[in-house]
This record gives sequence, structure tokens and C-alpha cells, in this order.
Amino acid sequence: MQIQEILKTEPQNQEVTVKGWVRTKRGQSALSFVHINDGSTIHNIQAVVDGEKIPEGVMKKVTCGACVEIKGELVASAGSGQKVEVNATSIKIYGEADETFPIQPKKHSLEFLREKAHLRFRTSTFGAIFRIRHQLSHAVHQFFHEQNFFYLHTPIITASDAEGAGEMFRVTTFEANKAPVTPDGSVDFKQDFFGKETSLTVSGQLEGELGALALSRIYTFGPTFRAENSNTTRHLAEFWMIEPEMAFFELKENMDLAEAFIKYVIKDVIKNCTDDLDFLDKRFQDENKTKPQNERSEHTLLEKLNFVLENEFARITYTEAIDILLNSKPHKKKKFKFPVEWGIDLQSEHERFLVEKHFQKPVIITDYPKGIKAFYMKQNEDGKTVAAMDVLFPGIGEMIGGSQREDDLTKLKTRIEEMGIEEESLWWYLETRKYGTAPHAGFGLGFERLVQFVTGMGNIRDVIAFPRTPGNVEF
Ligand code: 4AD
Ligand code: MG
Repeated sequence: MQIQEILKTEPQNQEVTVKGWVRTKRGQSALSFVHINDGSTIHNIQAVVDGEKIPEGVMKKVTCGACVEIKGELVASAGSGQKVEVNATSIKIYGEADETFPIQPKKHSLEFLREKAHLRFRTSTFGAIFRIRHQLSHAVHQFFHEQNFFYLHTPIITASDAEGAGEMFRVTTFEANKAPVTPDGSVDFKQDFFGKETSLTVSGQLEGELGALALSRIYTFGPTFRAENSNTTRHLAEFWMIEPEMAFFELKENMDLAEAFIKYVIKDVIKNCTDDLDFLDKRFQDENKTKPQNERSEHTLLEKLNFVLENEFARITYTEAIDILLNSKPHKKKKFKFPVEWGIDLQSEHERFLVEKHFQKPVIITDYPKGIKAFYMKQNEDGKTVAAMDVLFPGIGEMIGGSQREDDLTKLKTRIEEMGIEEESLWWYLETRKYGTAPHAGFGLGFERLVQFVTGMGNIRDVIAFPRTPGNVEF
């Protein structure tokens, strides 16, 4: 039995076996209390150790970080804080840990724990985060399965730049400095593994569209890679993205789906991760107290999550967003660092104003200027904007980016040419518009940003097991 099961078991002096890692040991050699955790739950189980039953030599090895097997009787606990405990009758040491074990029972900073990412799972905070991350992943699949979507595994190695932003990691089997060159001196990718220049994908969308234009509703959920040199609390070089793509959906249905999807997974976690969320909420509130007054959240973590469930997301066009910004106090008082005018890419200070100050809830912004969005977005009748949508969240910024897709072959080709993209490399994508094209739409949700919002963690590096950021690939 795992500790989460044992803790729920009716104590009747029955023998149980506890396997896990020692979190703390208190007391004297005559009587000591050992707290064990096996990661199955945030809660530890307490073993009460009578010095007469367990040899001193063994007890010496029961130290913080050691891995043990404790057999004993399950009894009702005399102390407060737990319903049951184990009266130890025998202890086996699987693995010792001496006093150099870095995760001692005291408060460690998140920065310190990032340097110990191989061991940080053994803290209550990271245990809670990764159990919630699991529950969220599960809820993602459940949501789409219930809505008749098929999980499509799109490739990780690709020869195309889906977002056209050129922030890709190259994939090659050429030896560094020894790549063959063509007579004109450029690298001869024909001789590379795939006979083409290849990279790690930034998005599964283009292939996802191919699936949707036959299976009707698909989603991807996989790793994506961006070689952007951003050292922020919201960017990773390797992150997980969920990308649904739906035939016969227009922008309105796309927005409805995005909103229903986020609400569904949050609700699922509130229902199934009560103890972990309670723990993280206390952490969130403690941390909140240390922040300067103007950055403090007025709400607890659970209040924030429930607020999202209970309120409709605001929906405005980009043009409306610009108007709100132009009429805002920070703009009039010249408090924004970046200028505000129609056509700009909204900066995070602008997004934060809209979401945190003006609407104080998630906001969906639609119909952005075509000049700042990808080639595949459906061009609106006005000739200036595209049927794009970004879902912005308080404290997070952009959680989702998506759009209705351009389904008109001629318009799509024109846009590709205008943006200087090589048409030949997208011949397969274009054929879906040539043969039986259909209105369709989709979006991408950055999974770590969702986990950040749900767990209340301020830094994206703390919601993925082994974060990849510029200069950071140790584990
Ligand atoms: O807005 P993005 O770039 O959109 C796409 O890639 C589309 N192909 C999606 C689609 O329509 N199928 O990225 C989507 C989301 C962002 O809203 C953000 O949440 C997340 O992916 N994201 C990142 N998350 C962590 N680190 C990064 N470097 C991220 N870049 C984007
Ligand atoms: Mg985006």
C-alpha cells in the first residue's frame, strides 16, 4: 500500500508496511517520531519508534533523506495532525542519506531548489506541483475525449517554421565545423540526415490542420521548442503545448471552446487535488505577504481559481483594446514604457493593464492587425485585421494564442508571398486548401503557463521538471 492509502485505512492494529523517504525525525532514542513521505500524497505518515524495539544502529541511519521500509501496527494516532500512525516493529534501510543531503527540513528558496532539480521532487511544494501537473494533463485528455477529439501525435522534427518567427533549434547529424558545403559556399543540407535543413518544431499546428481537415476534431499535446533568448518568468526554450484544431469552427466557436476547456481543467483540479491545492494556497498567501503592497493579490489561490470558473471571460477586439489603453491613466500619465498606437504588438505592460486593472479577469482579444500575426490566420473583410484570438490571464499574460485559419487558397498564397515565406516548403499544407478546403480554427495553450496559474507559482521554471532556458540544461 502507498502512504495515501494507508492514511485512509481504518486502524485496527493490523500490520502495515510503509516505504518512503524520511522527511523528519524528532524525539530521543527511547521514543522517536519519524515522518515518511512516498510522494503519493502531500501528507506524511508518522512512525512511532520505541528504542527498545529498534536497534540504535538502525535508528542512526534513519535520517532526513534516507529511504526506508517500516513495518509496524497501524493505530489511531494519539497526537493531533494525523488520524493514524504506525508503531514500528522493524525498519529496513534501503538507502542512507548523510547530513550533506541538501533538502533538510527547513525553508529552502525556490532558486536554491532549482539548482537541486534532481532532488526537489522530495519537497512538499514540488510534490504538490507535479501531482497537480499530472491531474491537469489527465483532465486535458478527458476534456477532448469527451468532446469527440482525437489525440494526434504530430512530429517533433520538422522542415517548416510554423510560426514564421525563425526561432528554431536546428537538428543535424553534421559534425560541428565539418558540414559539407556547396560550390557557392553555403551548407549542403542535401547531404544531411533528412536531405533538408531541419529543426525542432515550434508548434504542431500545421500538421494538426491536416488532421482536422479529415478527422474533424483533433488535438496535439506535446513538447515544442523555441530558441528565443527570453529570460522571463514565463518563457521556456522547451515547453508543452496543447493544440486543438477543428474543422467547421469559426472564431466564435474557437473562443467558446478555449473558455470551456480552461474552466473544465481548473474545475477538475479543484475537485481532485484538494490537499495539494490547500498546501499551495498557504504557500501562495505566505509569499503574497512578502510582496510590496501594489503587487499583492487580494485573493487566495482558490479564490482566484473559483473566480475564473464563475465569470465569463471578457471578449474585445484588438481595436477596442487599443482604445481602452489610449484612454487609460497610465497612458495619459506616460507610465507605459512602450508607445500605444494601432498596429503595435501589445507589450506585457499593456496586457497586464487590460487584464489586471481594467477587466480584472481573463480577457480574449480578437482581430489583431495582420502585420503582427502569422501567415495562416484568416484575413478579415476589412483587409487590415485577421481572425486571431489571444487569451490573457491575470499574472500570466498570454495563456492561449489561436485563430480561425485562412481557408482560401489564393488569399493564403498571397499572404505567404507578402511575408517572404518559401511557398514550395509548404506545398502539402496548401494542398488542403486546394482539395476540399473547409472553414477551420484552432489554438495553442502553453501548458506550463496553465500549471503556473493553477499552482500560483511565479516562475515557469518551477512547474516543469527540468526547465530548459538559455544557459540552463544541467539535468
Ligand atoms: O501564440 P503561440 O506562438 O501560438 C502558436 O504556436 C500557434 N501555432 C498555436 C495554434 O494556434 N495552434 O503559442 C501558443 C501558446 C502561447 O499562448 C503561450 O501560452 C505558449 O504557447 N508559449 C510559451 N510557453 C512557454 N514558453 C515559451 N517560450 C512560449 N511561447 C509560447
Ligand atoms: Mg502568441
